[in-house]
Amino acid sequence: MSKSFLTTTEAPNWCPSPSAKGGDSPELCNPENQGPRPEALTPNRRPPQAPPSPTAWLNPQLIRLADPAAVADWVAAELLAERRQRPQRPLGLATGRTMEPIYARLAQLVWGLTPAQQQDLRNRWSSFNLDDYVGLAPTDPRSFKAEMGSRLGLPLGLDPERVHLPDGGAADPEAAACDYAKALAAAGGIGLQLLGLGLNGHVGFNEPPCGPESRCRVLNLSATTRQQNAAGFGGDPELVPRRAITLGLAEILAAERILLVVTGAAKAEVLARLLLQPPTPALPASWIKLHPAAVVVADEAALGGPRSALQGY
Ligand code: GLP
Repeated sequence: MSKSFLTTTEAPNWCPSPSAKGGDSPELCNPENQGPRPEALTPNRRPPQAPPSPTAWLNPQLIRLADPAAVADWVAAELLAERRQRPQRPLGLATGRTMEPIYARLAQLVWGLTPAQQQDLRNRWSSFNLDDYVGLAPTDPRSFKAEMGSRLGLPLGLDPERVHLPDGGAADPEAAACDYAKALAAAGGIGLQLLGLGLNGHVGFNEPPCGPESRCRVLNLSATTRQQNAAGFGGDPELVPRRAITLGLAEILAAERILLVVTGAAKAEVLARLLLQPPTPALPASWIKLHPAAVVVADEAALGGPRSALQGY
């Protein structure tokens, strides 16, 4: 697949005004999730774009695998092949528990390469993560930046300059989000985008409701997400930062290919909604159905077992 229909370069100006930073229409994106935007309806604001026709959606290919270990084998091999064979565009990476066995398996695969192959991989590495919390220094072990360092950068021997994440610790997070969008565009946009799935249907930190035209921005995290991610903060959702920087659906859908990875019974309900219903702002991950090369990789537990409505998918 050469190029998808949404590109990161559609906007004529990256950050034309504070009101346009989010890029979301007020109809589609919950102001609760967007952070303070007092100028949101100034005359400078671009008119909201209509969401793409729901009749144009596609059923993503579904790869069914037995368990998280089989999923990790499959996805890690795919990531390595992408990086070695199609290095022109960066990898799009995600954090979260779903990704942990995948990065562990990727490290094993890389250690199995010859020293020359490993060095070649390091020389051509480029990745951009989806998101990070606002207010955590990059050195804070709870930041996604630190997590990517320990799970990927260190085991693979990568130059930290090649493993990009938004700077959630910046004094001006709005400017950091804008800088991150510019850096991704300068790198050519994402080649293969790896996605996890939030319990509320978010991808990256694009909280529902959210439309497909949303762009890289600072937003407020929902109570569901702060609860879901509390494990990394001693189990206390109150300690999870209230804001984050995330790539938007527009940057995600501009990737050449998308891999949505879903494991575990806790995700069965949200995955069934995603696969069986048309795309909707209520389930931001469902916008991958607008992408011509989106693949869902799921284990049996996430697919709901033998009596699931997904058996005939
Ligand atoms: C998190 C991240 C996502 C991640 C998702 C699922 O909040 N922002 O990028 O993919 O939620 O997380 P997990 O794999 O831990 O279920």
